[in-house]
Amino acid sequence: MNKKELDNEVAKRRTFAIISHPDAGKTTITEQLLLFGGVLRTAGTVKAKKTGNFAKSDWMEIEKKRGISVTSSVMQFDYAGKRINILDTPGHEDFSEDTYRTLMAVDSAVMIIDAAKGIEPQTKKLFQICKMRGIPIFTFMNKLDRDSREPLDLISELEEVLGINAYAMNWPIGMGKDLRGLYDIYNNRIELYHSEDKGQDFLPLDEDGKLAVENELMEDSIYQQVLDEVELVKDAGNDFDEQKIASGELTPVFFGSALTNFGVKTFLDAYLQFAPAPSAHQTEAEETIAPDSADFSGFIFKIQANMNPNHRDRIAFVRICSGEFERGMDVNLTRTGKSMRLSNSTQFMADTRETVENAVAGDIIGLYDTGNFQIGDTIYSGKQSLQYPKLPQFTPELFVRVTAKNVMKQKSFHKGIQQLVQEGAIQLYQSYSTGDYILGAVGQLQFEVFQFRMLNEYHSEVVMTPLGHKIARWIDPEQLDEKMASSRNMLVKDLKEQPLFLFENDFAERWFAGKYPDVKLFSLL
Ligand code: G4P
Repeated sequence: MNKKELDNEVAKRRTFAIISHPDAGKTTITEQLLLFGGVLRTAGTVKAKKTGNFAKSDWMEIEKKRGISVTSSVMQFDYAGKRINILDTPGHEDFSEDTYRTLMAVDSAVMIIDAAKGIEPQTKKLFQICKMRGIPIFTFMNKLDRDSREPLDLISELEEVLGINAYAMNWPIGMGKDLRGLYDIYNNRIELYHSEDKGQDFLPLDEDGKLAVENELMEDSIYQQVLDEVELVKDAGNDFDEQKIASGELTPVFFGSALTNFGVKTFLDAYLQFAPAPSAHQTEAEETIAPDSADFSGFIFKIQANMNPNHRDRIAFVRICSGEFERGMDVNLTRTGKSMRLSNSTQFMADTRETVENAVAGDIIGLYDTGNFQIGDTIYSGKQSLQYPKLPQFTPELFVRVTAKNVMKQKSFHKGIQQLVQEGAIQLYQSYSTGDYILGAVGQLQFEVFQFRMLNEYHSEVVMTPLGHKIARWIDPEQLDEKMASSRNMLVKDLKEQPLFLFENDFAERWFAGKYPDVKLFSLL
Protein backbone atom coordinates (compact mmCIF):
# COMPACT_ATOMS: atom_id res chain seq x y z
CA MET A 1 0.00 0.00 0.00
CA ASN A 2 1.38 3.40 -0.82
CA LYS A 3 0.94 6.37 1.48
CA LYS A 4 -2.19 7.60 -0.25
CA GLU A 5 -3.86 4.20 -0.16
CA LEU A 6 -2.97 3.81 3.49
CA ASP A 7 -4.39 7.26 4.24
CA ASN A 8 -7.62 6.30 2.52
CA GLU A 9 -7.90 2.99 4.28
CA VAL A 10 -7.24 4.45 7.72
CA ALA A 11 -9.78 7.21 7.11
CA LYS A 12 -12.43 4.54 6.53
CA ARG A 13 -11.97 2.89 9.92
CA ARG A 14 -14.44 3.34 12.74
CA THR A 15 -13.48 1.35 15.81
CA PHE A 16 -15.81 1.43 18.77
CA ALA A 17 -17.23 -0.44 21.74
CA ILE A 18 -20.79 -0.57 22.94
CA ILE A 19 -21.13 0.21 26.61
CA SER A 20 -24.29 -0.55 28.54
CA HIS A 21 -25.79 -2.16 31.58
CA PRO A 22 -26.77 -5.81 31.06
CA ASP A 23 -30.12 -6.14 29.26
CA ALA A 24 -30.19 -2.63 27.83
CA GLY A 25 -30.04 -4.15 24.33
CA LYS A 26 -26.38 -4.30 23.35
CA THR A 27 -26.69 -7.71 21.73
CA THR A 28 -29.84 -6.74 19.88
CA ILE A 29 -28.38 -3.55 18.45
CA THR A 30 -25.10 -5.27 17.55
CA GLU A 31 -27.13 -7.73 15.58
CA GLN A 32 -28.97 -4.97 13.73
CA LEU A 33 -25.68 -3.32 12.86
CA LEU A 34 -24.31 -6.60 11.55
CA LEU A 35 -27.44 -7.02 9.46
CA PHE A 36 -26.84 -3.60 7.89
CA GLY A 37 -23.30 -4.67 7.22
CA GLY A 38 -24.54 -7.79 5.47
CA VAL A 39 -22.50 -9.93 7.83
CA LEU A 40 -25.58 -11.63 9.20
CA ARG A 41 -28.41 -12.70 7.01
CA THR A 42 -31.02 -13.49 9.62
CA ALA A 43 -31.96 -11.72 12.78
CA GLY A 44 -31.55 -13.80 15.89
CA THR A 45 -28.12 -15.21 15.15
CA VAL A 46 -26.13 -13.27 17.69
CA LYS A 47 -28.95 -13.52 20.14
CA ALA A 48 -29.15 -17.25 19.64
CA LYS A 49 -25.42 -17.46 20.05
CA LYS A 50 -25.76 -15.64 23.32
CA THR A 51 -28.39 -18.00 24.63
CA GLY A 52 -26.50 -21.03 23.44
CA ASN A 53 -28.77 -22.31 20.70
CA PHE A 54 -26.24 -21.47 18.07
CA ALA A 55 -22.73 -22.91 17.81
CA LYS A 56 -23.22 -24.66 21.04
CA SER A 57 -19.78 -24.76 22.49
CA ASP A 58 -18.81 -25.47 26.04
CA TRP A 59 -17.77 -21.92 26.44
CA MET A 60 -21.18 -20.63 25.51
CA GLU A 61 -22.69 -22.81 28.19
CA ILE A 62 -21.40 -20.65 30.96
CA GLU A 63 -22.75 -17.59 29.28
CA LYS A 64 -26.08 -19.30 29.02
CA LYS A 65 -26.03 -20.34 32.61
CA ARG A 66 -25.27 -16.88 33.86
CA GLY A 67 -27.30 -15.19 31.17
CA ILE A 68 -24.46 -12.87 30.39
CA SER A 69 -21.84 -12.49 27.77
CA VAL A 70 -18.46 -13.18 29.31
CA THR A 71 -16.27 -13.24 26.24
CA SER A 72 -15.12 -10.11 24.50
CA SER A 73 -15.06 -10.48 20.79
CA VAL A 74 -14.42 -8.31 17.80
CA MET A 75 -16.69 -7.95 14.82
CA GLN A 76 -15.80 -6.29 11.57
CA PHE A 77 -18.02 -5.26 8.68
CA ASP A 78 -18.27 -2.77 5.85
CA TYR A 79 -21.09 -0.30 5.58
CA ALA A 80 -21.52 2.88 3.56
CA GLY A 81 -17.90 2.97 2.49
CA LYS A 82 -16.60 2.56 6.02
CA ARG A 83 -14.95 -0.39 7.71
CA ILE A 84 -16.42 -0.82 11.15
CA ASN A 85 -14.81 -2.68 14.03
CA ILE A 86 -17.06 -3.35 17.01
CA LEU A 87 -15.28 -4.49 20.13
CA ASP A 88 -17.64 -6.26 22.42
CA THR A 89 -17.31 -5.54 26.10
CA PRO A 90 -18.67 -7.95 28.66
CA GLY A 91 -21.38 -6.17 30.60
CA HIS A 92 -20.97 -7.88 33.92
CA GLU A 93 -19.26 -5.85 36.62
CA ASP A 94 -16.88 -8.66 37.51
CA PHE A 95 -15.29 -8.21 34.13
CA SER A 96 -14.50 -4.56 34.56
CA GLU A 97 -10.78 -5.11 34.16
CA ASP A 98 -11.12 -6.82 30.82
CA THR A 99 -13.63 -4.25 29.69
CA TYR A 100 -11.40 -1.46 30.84
CA ARG A 101 -8.57 -2.64 28.63
CA THR A 102 -10.89 -3.10 25.69
CA LEU A 103 -11.96 0.52 26.05
CA MET A 104 -8.29 1.47 25.68
CA ALA A 105 -8.38 0.01 22.18
CA VAL A 106 -11.32 1.95 20.71
CA ASP A 107 -11.69 5.40 19.17
CA SER A 108 -15.27 6.02 20.26
CA ALA A 109 -18.05 4.44 22.29
CA VAL A 110 -21.74 3.85 21.80
CA MET A 111 -23.74 3.95 25.01
CA ILE A 112 -27.02 2.05 25.02
CA ILE A 113 -29.54 3.03 27.64
CA ASP A 114 -32.83 1.30 28.38
CA ALA A 115 -35.24 4.23 28.09
CA ALA A 116 -37.49 2.77 30.76
CA LYS A 117 -34.63 2.54 33.24
CA GLY A 118 -32.27 5.41 32.49
CA ILE A 119 -28.69 5.40 33.71
CA GLU A 120 -27.80 2.15 35.46
CA PRO A 121 -24.68 1.44 37.54
CA GLN A 122 -22.66 -0.44 34.94
CA THR A 123 -23.32 2.22 32.31
CA LYS A 124 -22.01 4.82 34.68
CA LYS A 125 -18.80 2.93 35.40
CA LEU A 126 -18.05 2.29 31.75
CA PHE A 127 -18.94 5.83 30.81
CA GLN A 128 -16.42 7.17 33.27
CA ILE A 129 -13.64 5.16 31.67
CA CYS A 130 -14.54 6.58 28.26
CA LYS A 131 -14.75 10.06 29.66
CA MET A 132 -11.34 9.75 31.21
CA ARG A 133 -9.95 8.92 27.79
CA GLY A 134 -11.80 11.85 26.22
CA ILE A 135 -13.23 9.72 23.42
CA PRO A 136 -16.52 10.63 21.71
CA ILE A 137 -19.59 8.94 23.15
CA PHE A 138 -22.81 8.43 21.19
CA THR A 139 -25.97 7.65 23.12
CA PHE A 140 -28.83 5.44 21.99
CA MET A 141 -31.97 5.44 24.17
CA ASN A 142 -33.42 2.03 23.46
CA LYS A 143 -36.73 0.17 23.76
CA LEU A 144 -38.97 3.00 22.66
CA ASP A 145 -41.53 0.43 21.59
CA ARG A 146 -42.18 -0.04 25.28
CA ASP A 147 -43.41 2.48 27.79
CA SER A 148 -40.37 4.53 28.68
CA ARG A 149 -39.49 7.49 30.81
CA GLU A 150 -40.08 11.00 29.52
CA PRO A 151 -37.35 12.00 27.07
CA LEU A 152 -36.66 15.28 28.88
CA ASP A 153 -36.26 13.39 32.08
CA LEU A 154 -33.85 10.92 30.45
CA ILE A 155 -31.72 13.67 28.97
CA SER A 156 -31.48 15.64 32.17
CA GLU A 157 -30.58 12.50 34.10
CA LEU A 158 -27.89 11.76 31.53
CA GLU A 159 -26.42 15.21 31.97
CA GLU A 160 -26.62 15.26 35.74
CA VAL A 161 -25.55 11.74 36.59
CA LEU A 162 -22.82 11.42 33.99
CA GLY A 163 -21.71 15.03 33.89
CA ILE A 164 -21.75 15.33 30.11
CA ASN A 165 -23.70 17.71 27.89
CA ALA A 166 -26.26 16.13 25.60
CA TYR A 167 -27.65 17.09 22.24
CA ALA A 168 -30.90 15.40 21.15
CA MET A 169 -30.48 14.36 17.53
CA ASN A 170 -34.09 13.21 17.49
CA TRP A 171 -37.07 13.09 19.77
CA PRO A 172 -39.66 10.37 20.25
CA ILE A 173 -43.21 11.00 19.13
CA GLY A 174 -45.01 8.85 21.65
CA MET A 175 -43.75 5.61 23.09
CA GLY A 176 -44.88 2.06 23.77
CA LYS A 177 -48.21 1.37 22.11
CA ASP A 178 -48.47 5.05 21.18
CA LEU A 179 -45.14 5.25 19.42
CA ARG A 180 -45.73 7.25 16.24
CA GLY A 181 -42.17 7.89 15.20
CA LEU A 182 -39.20 10.17 15.69
CA TYR A 183 -38.97 13.88 15.24
CA ASP A 184 -35.55 13.98 13.63
CA ILE A 185 -34.11 17.30 14.73
CA TYR A 186 -30.76 16.81 13.07
CA ASN A 187 -32.07 15.72 9.66
CA ASN A 188 -35.17 17.93 9.83
CA ARG A 189 -37.62 15.16 9.03
CA ILE A 190 -40.05 12.82 10.66
CA GLU A 191 -39.33 9.13 10.76
CA LEU A 192 -42.56 7.18 11.00
CA TYR A 193 -42.81 4.08 13.12
CA HIS A 194 -44.54 1.14 11.60
CA SER A 195 -44.59 -2.40 12.72
CA GLU A 196 -41.37 -4.28 12.15
CA ASP A 197 -42.28 -5.69 8.75
CA LYS A 198 -43.66 -2.57 7.10
CA GLY A 199 -40.43 -0.63 7.26
CA GLN A 200 -40.18 3.09 7.88
CA ASP A 201 -41.08 6.22 6.05
CA PHE A 202 -39.69 9.70 6.23
CA LEU A 203 -41.72 12.90 6.02
CA PRO A 204 -40.06 16.25 5.34
CA LEU A 205 -40.37 19.20 7.71
CA ASP A 206 -40.61 22.82 6.63
CA GLU A 207 -38.37 25.68 7.74
CA ASP A 208 -40.39 26.15 10.90
CA GLY A 209 -39.92 22.54 11.80
CA LYS A 210 -43.52 21.56 11.05
CA LEU A 211 -44.72 18.81 8.74
CA ALA A 212 -44.31 19.97 5.15
CA VAL A 213 -46.73 17.40 3.75
CA GLU A 214 -50.26 16.38 4.64
CA ASN A 215 -50.35 13.59 7.16
CA GLU A 216 -52.72 12.34 9.82
CA LEU A 217 -50.03 13.16 12.39
CA MET A 218 -50.96 16.82 12.07
CA GLU A 219 -54.15 16.14 13.98
CA ASP A 220 -52.41 14.05 16.57
CA SER A 221 -52.13 15.49 20.06
CA ILE A 222 -48.91 13.58 20.76
CA TYR A 223 -47.29 15.15 17.70
CA GLN A 224 -48.53 18.58 18.78
CA GLN A 225 -46.97 18.13 22.17
CA VAL A 226 -43.69 17.00 20.64
CA LEU A 227 -43.57 20.21 18.59
CA ASP A 228 -43.61 22.14 21.84
CA GLU A 229 -41.01 19.94 23.44
CA VAL A 230 -38.71 20.18 20.45
CA GLU A 231 -39.10 23.95 20.49
CA LEU A 232 -38.04 23.96 24.10
CA VAL A 233 -35.10 21.66 23.45
CA LYS A 234 -33.93 23.78 20.55
CA ASP A 235 -34.16 26.97 22.61
CA ALA A 236 -32.88 25.81 25.94
CA GLY A 237 -30.74 22.81 25.02
CA ASN A 238 -27.12 22.67 23.98
CA ASP A 239 -26.07 23.62 20.48
CA PHE A 240 -24.84 20.99 18.09
CA ASP A 241 -21.06 21.21 18.14
CA GLU A 242 -18.93 18.75 16.20
CA GLN A 243 -15.80 19.77 18.01
CA LYS A 244 -17.34 19.06 21.39
CA ILE A 245 -18.60 15.69 20.20
CA ALA A 246 -15.10 14.83 19.05
CA SER A 247 -13.59 15.73 22.41
CA GLY A 248 -16.22 13.81 24.36
CA GLU A 249 -17.75 16.91 25.95
CA LEU A 250 -21.09 16.56 24.17
CA THR A 251 -22.95 13.35 23.46
CA PRO A 252 -25.42 13.19 20.59
CA VAL A 253 -28.53 11.38 21.81
CA PHE A 254 -30.66 9.17 19.55
CA PHE A 255 -33.90 7.44 20.42
CA GLY A 256 -35.10 4.18 18.94
CA SER A 257 -35.91 0.56 19.33
CA ALA A 258 -33.25 -2.00 18.51
CA LEU A 259 -35.68 -4.88 18.62
CA THR A 260 -37.99 -3.43 15.99
CA ASN A 261 -35.05 -1.94 14.11
CA PHE A 262 -36.44 1.53 14.48
CA GLY A 263 -34.08 4.51 14.47
CA VAL A 264 -31.04 2.23 14.27
CA LYS A 265 -30.09 3.11 10.72
CA THR A 266 -30.59 6.80 11.40
CA PHE A 267 -28.29 6.38 14.34
CA LEU A 268 -25.68 4.43 12.38
CA ASP A 269 -25.58 6.95 9.54
CA ALA A 270 -25.06 9.87 11.91
CA TYR A 271 -22.58 7.89 13.96
CA LEU A 272 -20.44 7.20 10.91
CA GLN A 273 -20.52 10.82 9.96
CA PHE A 274 -19.30 12.13 13.31
CA ALA A 275 -17.31 9.31 14.86
CA PRO A 276 -13.58 9.73 14.46
CA ALA A 277 -11.27 7.70 12.29
CA PRO A 278 -8.19 6.38 14.13
CA SER A 279 -6.11 9.19 15.54
CA ALA A 280 -2.50 9.47 16.63
CA HIS A 281 -1.25 7.54 19.66
CA GLN A 282 1.26 8.72 22.23
CA THR A 283 4.09 6.47 23.30
CA GLU A 284 5.48 6.21 26.80
CA ALA A 285 8.29 8.48 25.69
CA GLU A 286 5.57 10.95 24.62
CA GLU A 287 6.28 10.62 20.98
CA THR A 288 3.25 10.94 18.73
CA ILE A 289 2.72 8.13 16.24
CA ALA A 290 0.40 9.02 13.38
CA PRO A 291 -1.97 6.26 12.20
CA ASP A 292 -0.80 6.64 8.62
CA SER A 293 2.86 6.42 9.51
CA ALA A 294 4.73 4.03 7.23
CA ASP A 295 5.75 1.70 10.05
CA PHE A 296 3.42 -0.77 11.65
CA SER A 297 2.83 -0.61 15.40
CA GLY A 298 0.20 -1.78 17.84
CA PHE A 299 -0.42 -3.00 21.38
CA ILE A 300 -1.94 -6.10 22.91
CA PHE A 301 -4.99 -5.33 24.98
CA LYS A 302 -6.32 -8.78 25.56
CA ILE A 303 -5.20 -12.38 25.56
CA GLN A 304 -7.62 -15.22 25.50
CA ALA A 305 -7.02 -18.94 25.57
CA ASN A 306 -9.16 -21.48 23.76
CA MET A 307 -11.63 -19.05 22.26
CA ASN A 308 -12.82 -21.81 20.12
CA PRO A 309 -12.74 -25.24 21.75
CA ASN A 310 -12.32 -26.78 18.29
CA HIS A 311 -9.00 -25.04 17.91
CA ARG A 312 -6.95 -25.32 21.06
CA ASP A 313 -5.41 -21.91 20.81
CA ARG A 314 -4.57 -18.73 22.55
CA ILE A 315 -5.12 -15.44 20.86
CA ALA A 316 -3.51 -12.10 21.55
CA PHE A 317 -5.70 -9.21 20.40
CA VAL A 318 -3.73 -6.37 18.87
CA ARG A 319 -5.01 -2.88 18.28
CA ILE A 320 -3.11 -1.54 15.30
CA CYS A 321 -2.08 2.03 16.03
CA SER A 322 -0.10 2.82 12.90
CA GLY A 323 0.78 1.58 9.46
CA GLU A 324 -0.17 -1.63 7.77
CA PHE A 325 -0.08 -5.18 8.98
CA GLU A 326 0.82 -7.82 6.41
CA ARG A 327 0.71 -11.49 7.15
CA GLY A 328 4.20 -12.90 7.52
CA MET A 329 5.78 -9.58 8.42
CA ASP A 330 8.58 -9.31 10.95
CA VAL A 331 8.02 -7.21 14.04
CA ASN A 332 9.85 -6.45 17.25
CA LEU A 333 8.41 -7.00 20.67
CA THR A 334 9.51 -4.03 22.75
CA ARG A 335 9.45 -5.77 26.13
CA THR A 336 11.91 -8.50 25.15
CA GLY A 337 13.67 -6.74 22.30
CA LYS A 338 13.13 -9.89 20.23
CA SER A 339 12.05 -10.02 16.65
CA MET A 340 9.33 -12.39 15.43
CA ARG A 341 7.42 -13.25 12.29
CA LEU A 342 3.65 -12.76 12.37
CA SER A 343 2.45 -15.54 10.15
CA ASN A 344 -0.52 -16.79 12.09
CA SER A 345 -3.11 -14.09 12.28
CA THR A 346 -6.83 -13.91 12.30
CA GLN A 347 -9.59 -11.41 12.03
CA PHE A 348 -13.04 -11.62 13.43
CA MET A 349 -16.45 -11.70 11.88
CA ALA A 350 -19.76 -12.21 13.59
CA ASP A 351 -19.48 -15.96 13.70
CA THR A 352 -16.37 -16.92 11.81
CA ARG A 353 -12.71 -16.21 11.95
CA GLU A 354 -10.56 -15.99 8.92
CA THR A 355 -6.93 -15.51 8.23
CA VAL A 356 -6.12 -11.88 7.79
CA GLU A 357 -3.70 -10.94 5.04
CA ASN A 358 -3.51 -7.29 5.83
CA ALA A 359 -5.04 -4.73 8.10
CA VAL A 360 -4.39 -1.09 8.93
CA ALA A 361 -4.42 1.32 11.85
CA GLY A 362 -7.76 1.09 13.65
CA ASP A 363 -8.21 -2.61 12.94
CA ILE A 364 -7.94 -5.36 15.50
CA ILE A 365 -6.10 -8.51 14.62
CA GLY A 366 -5.72 -11.70 16.58
CA LEU A 367 -2.32 -13.36 16.73
CA TYR A 368 -2.00 -17.01 17.60
CA ASP A 369 0.16 -16.96 20.65
CA THR A 370 2.39 -19.61 22.05
CA GLY A 371 3.26 -17.67 25.16
CA ASN A 372 5.24 -14.79 23.71
CA PHE A 373 2.85 -12.01 24.50
CA GLN A 374 1.60 -10.23 27.58
CA ILE A 375 -1.19 -7.73 27.96
CA GLY A 376 0.16 -4.25 27.31
CA ASP A 377 2.94 -5.42 24.98
CA THR A 378 3.88 -3.22 22.05
CA ILE A 379 4.95 -4.62 18.69
CA TYR A 380 6.40 -2.52 15.89
CA SER A 381 8.09 -2.88 12.54
CA GLY A 382 10.12 0.32 12.30
CA LYS A 383 13.77 0.83 13.16
CA GLN A 384 13.03 2.85 16.25
CA SER A 385 11.83 1.04 19.34
CA LEU A 386 8.61 2.30 20.85
CA GLN A 387 6.32 1.41 23.74
CA TYR A 388 2.67 2.40 24.11
CA PRO A 389 1.57 3.21 27.67
CA LYS A 390 1.11 0.19 29.91
CA LEU A 391 -2.46 -0.88 30.44
CA PRO A 392 -3.77 -0.56 33.96
CA GLN A 393 -3.75 -3.54 36.27
CA PHE A 394 -6.29 -3.76 39.02
CA THR A 395 -5.42 -4.98 42.48
CA PRO A 396 -7.41 -8.14 43.15
CA GLU A 397 -9.64 -8.04 46.19
CA LEU A 398 -11.06 -11.53 46.38
CA PHE A 399 -8.93 -14.63 46.91
CA VAL A 400 -9.25 -18.41 46.80
CA ARG A 401 -6.85 -21.25 47.43
CA VAL A 402 -6.84 -23.63 44.52
CA THR A 403 -5.78 -27.27 44.28
CA ALA A 404 -6.26 -30.08 41.80
CA LYS A 405 -8.93 -32.52 42.90
CA ASN A 406 -7.07 -35.40 41.40
CA VAL A 407 -3.47 -35.35 42.56
CA MET A 408 -2.49 -37.57 39.65
CA LYS A 409 -3.44 -34.83 37.21
CA GLN A 410 -0.94 -32.20 38.29
CA LYS A 411 0.37 -31.64 34.78
CA SER A 412 -2.86 -30.44 33.23
CA PHE A 413 -3.62 -28.49 36.39
CA HIS A 414 -0.37 -26.54 36.15
CA LYS A 415 -0.66 -26.03 32.42
CA GLY A 416 -4.24 -24.74 32.72
CA ILE A 417 -3.41 -22.35 35.52
CA GLN A 418 -0.36 -20.96 33.77
CA GLN A 419 -2.26 -20.37 30.54
CA LEU A 420 -5.42 -18.89 32.01
CA VAL A 421 -3.46 -16.59 34.27
CA GLN A 422 -1.69 -15.16 31.20
CA GLU A 423 -5.02 -13.74 30.09
CA GLY A 424 -4.87 -11.30 32.96
CA ALA A 425 -8.36 -11.66 34.44
CA ILE A 426 -7.07 -13.56 37.45
CA GLN A 427 -3.78 -13.29 39.29
CA LEU A 428 -1.75 -16.18 40.61
CA TYR A 429 0.16 -16.17 43.88
CA GLN A 430 1.99 -18.77 45.83
CA SER A 431 2.11 -19.08 49.57
CA TYR A 432 5.61 -18.78 51.06
CA SER A 433 4.99 -21.26 53.82
CA THR A 434 3.01 -24.00 52.07
CA GLY A 435 3.66 -23.39 48.37
CA ASP A 436 -0.13 -23.44 47.80
CA TYR A 437 -1.56 -21.69 44.78
CA ILE A 438 -3.74 -18.71 45.55
CA LEU A 439 -5.81 -16.88 42.99
CA GLY A 440 -6.89 -13.28 43.19
CA ALA A 441 -9.55 -11.53 41.14
CA VAL A 442 -11.73 -8.45 41.29
CA GLY A 443 -14.92 -10.52 41.47
CA GLN A 444 -16.37 -13.94 42.13
CA LEU A 445 -17.46 -14.58 38.55
CA GLN A 446 -13.87 -14.80 37.37
CA PHE A 447 -13.27 -17.73 39.70
CA GLU A 448 -16.33 -19.50 38.36
CA VAL A 449 -15.19 -18.96 34.81
CA PHE A 450 -11.74 -20.19 35.77
CA GLN A 451 -13.10 -23.35 37.38
CA PHE A 452 -15.35 -24.04 34.43
CA ARG A 453 -12.61 -23.54 31.89
CA MET A 454 -10.09 -25.63 33.82
CA LEU A 455 -12.52 -28.50 33.64
CA ASN A 456 -13.65 -28.03 30.07
CA GLU A 457 -10.45 -26.95 28.43
CA TYR A 458 -7.80 -28.70 30.52
CA HIS A 459 -9.81 -31.58 31.99
CA SER A 460 -8.67 -30.55 35.40
CA GLU A 461 -11.16 -30.51 38.20
CA VAL A 462 -10.13 -27.87 40.72
CA VAL A 463 -11.08 -27.36 44.32
CA MET A 464 -11.33 -23.75 45.41
CA THR A 465 -11.31 -22.75 49.06
CA PRO A 466 -12.56 -19.18 49.48
CA LEU A 467 -10.25 -16.94 51.45
CA GLY A 468 -12.57 -13.94 51.22
CA HIS A 469 -11.66 -10.32 50.73
CA LYS A 470 -8.07 -9.34 51.31
CA ILE A 471 -5.99 -6.25 50.85
CA ALA A 472 -2.93 -6.98 48.72
CA ARG A 473 0.19 -4.99 49.63
CA TRP A 474 3.61 -5.56 48.15
CA ILE A 475 6.81 -5.04 50.07
CA ASP A 476 10.38 -4.50 49.12
CA PRO A 477 12.08 -7.97 49.06
CA GLU A 478 15.01 -6.45 50.97
CA GLN A 479 12.73 -5.76 53.90
CA LEU A 480 11.16 -9.19 53.94
CA ASP A 481 11.24 -11.31 57.05
CA GLU A 482 9.04 -14.39 56.88
CA LYS A 483 8.32 -14.04 60.57
CA MET A 484 6.20 -11.00 59.77
CA ALA A 485 3.51 -13.28 58.35
CA SER A 486 0.55 -14.33 60.45
CA SER A 487 -2.95 -15.65 59.91
CA ARG A 488 -4.18 -12.10 59.42
CA ASN A 489 -1.50 -11.22 56.91
CA MET A 490 -0.64 -14.09 54.63
CA LEU A 491 2.70 -13.90 52.91
CA VAL A 492 2.67 -14.84 49.23
CA LYS A 493 4.70 -14.15 46.11
CA ASP A 494 3.42 -13.11 42.72
CA LEU A 495 4.40 -14.47 39.30
CA LYS A 496 7.43 -12.22 39.24
CA GLU A 497 8.52 -13.68 42.58
CA GLN A 498 7.75 -10.41 44.35
CA PRO A 499 6.58 -10.74 47.96
CA LEU A 500 3.28 -9.36 49.16
CA PHE A 501 0.99 -9.63 52.14
CA LEU A 502 -2.70 -10.39 51.93
CA PHE A 503 -4.19 -8.49 54.83
CA GLU A 504 -7.47 -9.66 56.28
CA ASN A 505 -8.82 -6.11 56.57
CA ASP A 506 -7.86 -2.47 57.12
CA PHE A 507 -7.35 -3.11 60.75
CA ALA A 508 -4.80 -5.86 60.09
CA GLU A 509 -2.94 -3.56 57.72
CA ARG A 510 -2.84 -0.73 60.24
CA TRP A 511 -1.73 -3.11 62.96
CA PHE A 512 1.09 -4.29 60.74
CA ALA A 513 2.10 -0.74 59.88
CA GLY A 514 2.21 0.07 63.60
CA LYS A 515 4.31 -2.97 64.39
CA TYR A 516 6.73 -2.57 61.48
CA PRO A 517 6.84 1.19 60.87
CA ASP A 518 9.91 0.92 58.63
CA VAL A 519 8.39 -1.58 56.21
CA LYS A 520 6.89 0.19 53.22
CA LEU A 521 3.67 -1.27 51.78
CA PHE A 522 2.83 -0.74 48.10
CA SER A 523 -0.54 -1.28 46.47
CA LEU A 524 0.88 -2.55 43.15
CA LEU A 525 4.34 -3.27 41.90
P1 G4P B 1 -27.74 -6.96 26.40
O1 G4P B 1 -26.94 -7.57 25.30
O2 G4P B 1 -27.48 -5.51 26.58
O3 G4P B 1 -27.70 -7.69 27.69
O4 G4P B 1 -29.28 -6.98 25.96
P2 G4P B 1 -30.04 -7.81 24.85
O5 G4P B 1 -29.79 -7.25 23.51
O6 G4P B 1 -29.84 -9.24 25.08
O7 G4P B 1 -31.51 -7.42 25.25
C1 G4P B 1 -32.06 -7.71 26.53
C2 G4P B 1 -33.54 -7.90 26.40
O8 G4P B 1 -34.13 -6.69 25.93
C3 G4P B 1 -33.92 -8.96 25.39
O9 G4P B 1 -35.16 -9.52 25.83
C4 G4P B 1 -34.18 -8.16 24.13
O10 G4P B 1 -35.05 -8.81 23.24
C5 G4P B 1 -34.82 -6.93 24.71
N1 G4P B 1 -34.69 -5.78 23.85
C6 G4P B 1 -33.59 -5.28 23.26
N2 G4P B 1 -33.89 -4.19 22.54
C7 G4P B 1 -35.21 -3.99 22.69
C8 G4P B 1 -36.11 -3.04 22.18
O11 G4P B 1 -35.77 -2.14 21.42
N3 G4P B 1 -37.41 -3.17 22.57
C9 G4P B 1 -37.84 -4.15 23.39
N4 G4P B 1 -39.13 -4.18 23.68
N5 G4P B 1 -37.01 -5.07 23.88
C10 G4P B 1 -35.71 -4.99 23.52
P3 G4P B 1 -35.24 -10.80 26.68
O12 G4P B 1 -36.67 -11.12 26.78
O13 G4P B 1 -34.46 -10.67 27.92
O14 G4P B 1 -34.45 -11.76 25.78
P4 G4P B 1 -34.81 -13.17 25.43
O15 G4P B 1 -35.47 -13.71 26.64
O16 G4P B 1 -35.71 -12.96 24.26
O17 G4P B 1 -33.53 -13.81 25.12
